Amino acid sequence: MGSSYSSSRAEKILDDLTLESVADYIKSGKCQNIITMIGAGMSTAAGIPDFRSPGSGLYDNLGKYNLPFPQAMFEIHYFKRHPEPFYDIARQLIDREYKPTKAHCFIKLLSDKGLLLRNYSQNVDGLEIQAGLPDKLNVEAHGTIRTSTCMKCKAAYSMGEMREKLLDGGEGVPTCDKKEGCLGLIKPDVVLFGEALPRRYAQYSNSDMGRCDLLIIMGTSLQVYPFCGLPHYTQPSCPRLLINLMKVGQDPDVPSGWFIRKMMGIKDPGLDFDSSHAYRDVFVQTTCDAGVEKLASLLGWTDELNKLTAEVKPMTWS
Ligand code: OAD
Repeated sequence: MGSSYSSSRAEKILDDLTLESVADYIKSGKCQNIITMIGAGMSTAAGIPDFRSPGSGLYDNLGKYNLPFPQAMFEIHYFKRHPEPFYDIARQLIDREYKPTKAHCFIKLLSDKGLLLRNYSQNVDGLEIQAGLPDKLNVEAHGTIRTSTCMKCKAAYSMGEMREKLLDGGEGVPTCDKKEGCLGLIKPDVVLFGEALPRRYAQYSNSDMGRCDLLIIMGTSLQVYPFCGLPHYTQPSCPRLLINLMKVGQDPDVPSGWFIRKMMGIKDPGLDFDSSHAYRDVFVQTTCDAGVEKLASLLGWTDELNKLTAEVKPMTWS
């Protein structure tokens, strides 16, 4: 994926850098290929903690596991040697009732209206699919908890089977019994640090980003590569809307971000909401749900969004 960034070719599409202008652009009919990029902040309203919010995020609450550093919990090399903390957290989060949020339903509404090119998610909860988003419009960049695989014999396990293993198996780790004597570790099909992203990610993102005519980023700190590099592969004129509790995606957000950018050949300096050169990036500081509610209202979609949100069912663990 090569960067197409060139400020000299950039056309200014939005009248000003506000949600109102984004809504006008959508209403104009010139915007037909919206990409949504989402992270853990999309699901906090459903009761799933994010990773990096101070105090409430998972990384601030792993003290009892004596990890060398919080992210070790989700690193494949650490997991292979010490899988217990991972499954302990899984046991705490499993079997609760998680319902897609209004923001998940907004993505479904975009797809119903034929405006969604793709949703790229870092989340493994599948709540966008539960909201009714068709699989083909969804890329789960960091995998999913809906299926699991034995790391030894590669036998597949459903979510129901994994649930049973975790809840009926005491405090032990779930091991494979599909092949006699296997006893391999069963791992949810999530992507841990050090593992490759699903093939779909490169397959779709390579062609999608250049076709995108509005990027909506919600509930992510944009700290994890390669996902956080996606905004830079949009066309220079493509407006980018961030709905988040805090401003992210500017170069200094990511330690050594400039270095990674250089390695990836990215010349775009990151999201720019405020500089005197800002022309396409819009920041709305609020929750994902409140942000989409406001956008839906500006678009005249409130009733449809409320209907979808009222009808959506919680995910099941079967
Ligand atoms: P983070 O926890 O890093 O970031 C969540 C972002 O959402 C933060 O900027 C919060 O301020 C914001 N936020 C929280 N609640 C919100 C709400 N209700 N409305 C709007 N914004 C909200 O989560 P991700 O960016 O998704 O990867 O994390 C990326 C990856 O890091 C994860 O997929 C995971 C993690 O390590 C792996 O484990 C491989």
